Amino acid sequence: MSDDQPHWRSGKSPEPFYIKSVAPLHRIKREQREQALIAAKYNLFNLKSAQIYIDLLTDSGTGAMSHYQWAALMHGDEAYAGSSSFDRFASAVREIFGFQHLLPSHQGRSAELVLMTHFLSPGDYVPNNIHFDTTMAHVQFQQAHDVNLVIDDVYDWDSEHPFKGNMDIGKLVGFLKQHGDKVPLVCLTLTCNSGGGQPVSLENVKQTKAVCDKYAKPLFIDSARVIENAYFIKQREPHYRDWPIEAITREIMAHADGMWMSAKKDGLVNIGGFIAVHDRALYEQLRMYTILFDGFVTYGGMSGRDMDALAVGLRECCEEAYLAHRTGQVAHVSCLLRDSGIRTTWPPGGHAVYLDGRDFCPHLPDEQFPAQALSLALYLAAGVRSVEIGVILRGRDPDTGHNRYDGLDLVRLAIPRRMYTFTQLEFVAESLIELKRRAMEIRGVKFARETPVLRHFTSEYALVEPAQAAGTPS
Ligand code: F0G
Repeated sequence: MSDDQPHWRSGKSPEPFYIKSVAPLHRIKREQREQALIAAKYNLFNLKSAQIYIDLLTDSGTGAMSHYQWAALMHGDEAYAGSSSFDRFASAVREIFGFQHLLPSHQGRSAELVLMTHFLSPGDYVPNNIHFDTTMAHVQFQQAHDVNLVIDDVYDWDSEHPFKGNMDIGKLVGFLKQHGDKVPLVCLTLTCNSGGGQPVSLENVKQTKAVCDKYAKPLFIDSARVIENAYFIKQREPHYRDWPIEAITREIMAHADGMWMSAKKDGLVNIGGFIAVHDRALYEQLRMYTILFDGFVTYGGMSGRDMDALAVGLRECCEEAYLAHRTGQVAHVSCLLRDSGIRTTWPPGGHAVYLDGRDFCPHLPDEQFPAQALSLALYLAAGVRSVEIGVILRGRDPDTGHNRYDGLDLVRLAIPRRMYTFTQLEFVAESLIELKRRAMEIRGVKFARETPVLRHFTSEYALVEPAQAAGTPS
């Protein structure tokens, strides 16, 4: 495979690391998994890690650090104020993203709390390509409305659009014309997690910014996986094919007023996050919320050692061999499944393989949450933990109280960074291919106890009796 060949199809790019420290993995028996599911009230968040063989619940904070990062921990300066770890972290942010002003946060959602508290009032609207669930929850927590204006291609399984995460510029203009006075900021999520980890093109970032400028709205980038997004820009947007990843990332941010990042993803660390902005006055307005919610401005909820590990992790994430391997793992699993007739988001996204719950379980109506049902069946069959990114995660419409059946009902197989080998991922693919043969046996799911905020984390479920299978109300 030549160096510059896109990893769109095959993607089995060798590990650019060797294994230096290992942790054992065991698979408990099927009967034990069955009992574990009952004890967990059919919510995979309630399982213990020892009950899981391969854990694809999330790529957030679950990856492996390099020996350079472990060494960097020893440089941690735990001074409450003025820590030199913060200075090293700030240099990395300046170098990679081009922002002058940095506010650490303990993870992504506390950055969202700071931003949304500053920007939003009740009744406001926040347009985004698609809000991730915590962002949506923080918008709603301020009694404002989340509005998803992604291009329709993301919902079209046959479309091969290379940037399905793009904002629909026509929809954005239309929305701002109608509700502009109630829109304090516009956001873009790179890559678009709830849309299948699909990237946004630089052209689209520029167009979004031009619209924001016209309507005098700040643009903020939800940057959890922005470096993976930069890699896709290099692969799929011809103008940038010879640009270094850092240059592409800076170019994205040159068109934004600010960013926030859950550093647990492309920061290659287990905890951390931040907000970064160009404008000093905005920084000064935001920092009082950081102090209120997260901690003093030179640590914001992070320890000095974690800031040091993050400074190294951000730079490592920009290495192309790493990005080729990482996106290649996603592409490889996607191809194995697709070649066996299992519908996955296509082209492959950045951090996860997303399966269509409805297509996998055509016998289950939406009211029986096919994606949740599939994720439970996969655990039972193979000990593999995945996560529903669909109707349950979207929650109820705050205005009508109804489940939001519009949109995708996906199962996400999120691949932790530098953690699993290709062999382990092939085991996951084979388990799914086998499960697909007996998909009609997968039972639907109903709520036993539904919790109000971010319900997927804490709700409890029961399996629907096969006799009840058709047309059971939610
Ligand atoms: N934005 C995006 C795009 C995310 O994917 C996440 C987290 C957050 C914000 C919030 O960050 O977890 O550090 O508070 N995504 C994780 C996931 C939880 O599994 O996709 P956080």
